[in-house]
Amino acid sequence: MTVCEYRAGLEGIPATQSSISFVDGQRGVLEYRGISIEELAERSSFIETAYLLIWGELPNKDELELFEYEIRNHRRLKYRIRDMMKCFPEGGHPMDALQACAAALGLFYSRRALDDPAYIRAACVRLLAKIPTMVAAFQLMRKGNDPVQPRDDLGYSANFLYMLNEREPDPLAAHVFDVCLTLHAEHTINASTFSALVTASTLTDPYAVVASAVGTLAGPLHGGANEEVIFMLEEIESVENVAPYIDHCIEHKQKIMGFGHRVYKVKDPRATILQHLAEKLFEKYGGDTFYDIALEMERVVHDRLGHKGIYPNVDFYSGLVYRKLGIPTDLFTPVFAISRTAGWLAHWKEQLNENRIFRPTQIYTGTHSSPYVPIQER
Ligand code: ACO
Repeated sequence: MTVCEYRAGLEGIPATQSSISFVDGQRGVLEYRGISIEELAERSSFIETAYLLIWGELPNKDELELFEYEIRNHRRLKYRIRDMMKCFPEGGHPMDALQACAAALGLFYSRRALDDPAYIRAACVRLLAKIPTMVAAFQLMRKGNDPVQPRDDLGYSANFLYMLNEREPDPLAAHVFDVCLTLHAEHTINASTFSALVTASTLTDPYAVVASAVGTLAGPLHGGANEEVIFMLEEIESVENVAPYIDHCIEHKQKIMGFGHRVYKVKDPRATILQHLAEKLFEKYGGDTFYDIALEMERVVHDRLGHKGIYPNVDFYSGLVYRKLGIPTDLFTPVFAISRTAGWLAHWKEQLNENRIFRPTQIYTGTHSSPYVPIQER
């Protein structure tokens, strides 16, 4: 075996072979199973895209209807999971609640028949169906309300917004939300997907796989950045403050949230689509000063950091869209998790096809043959 040079963050080191998604960070290309993200955002739905990611090809009409039907039938939570959620502190972060709930599913559906396609399908259906219900239920419960039961007559995205806001969304809101889910569904081997793969490689159950990925997505350098973008826009307050804010960040070597990406060195194609969706929402529901601040930020960051390949990433505009849809800021990352569950499951399934447990090596930097010093002599 050749000894490789150590690269912090494993930058540029392939961790797996995959046919699920493809990114060209220089040209701003993202494809799921070879289909461009622009085309999927325009023509597909989140559930159809989830099917494409997990099973490798677009479903025909009957396959899609069956998949939608199965998911609709599994949206409810067991009352014991709801009871468990009642014990969560209302001040806790919803990502922590979601991680606990995803892991708890393993208590109820613990059979690990990883060589049985029916088990794999049921786990995919259950996770895709129940995670939105968990997110909405936590939101209502922490306000002291009973969770709203899912409605079978509503599609996946409309039903989530209904359970969250306790009223049926208008079709534009449901459509925009559905496109957001499609855009966030998969993105090659990012940190949370890598953690899903490592967990999957031990042949544990899929609920543990998703719970471990949720925990990884929660960090501010990954999924948590969309929340941070809103806090940053609140702090900036007005268009005039944008340039001094950015200059201050650059001078003090602080990261500007929602900008930069390990892979994209141009504007993230998802950010372009999200910006367009934000404009549609503002047209219908009225403008937003945050959007003016965001546009000015994009201009100033391009001016100051464009030469380094620092451009808006997916999180920059997603927060603005979610805010307009009435989603509380600390639910942005759980919403990301609802969507990314599709990608995690696709990678779980792919990992099982040719599994080998992950066991990387390390470069030891410690000492050898050190003396054990008795406690009274330390
Ligand atoms: N603001 C200012 N400068 C930045 C930013 C930023 N957001 N991102 C990168 N840079 C600069 C760095 O300071 C560094 O400059 P230097 O070479 O002069 O030291 C250079 O660009 C390379 O930055 P790294 O941190 O090495 O890039 P890395 O690939 O490790 O980080 C990351 C990528 C974590 C996304 C980073 O850009 C960042 O922290 N962005 C803000 C957080 C964010 O928006 N995260 C969401 C990412 S998308 C997602 O996870 C869904």
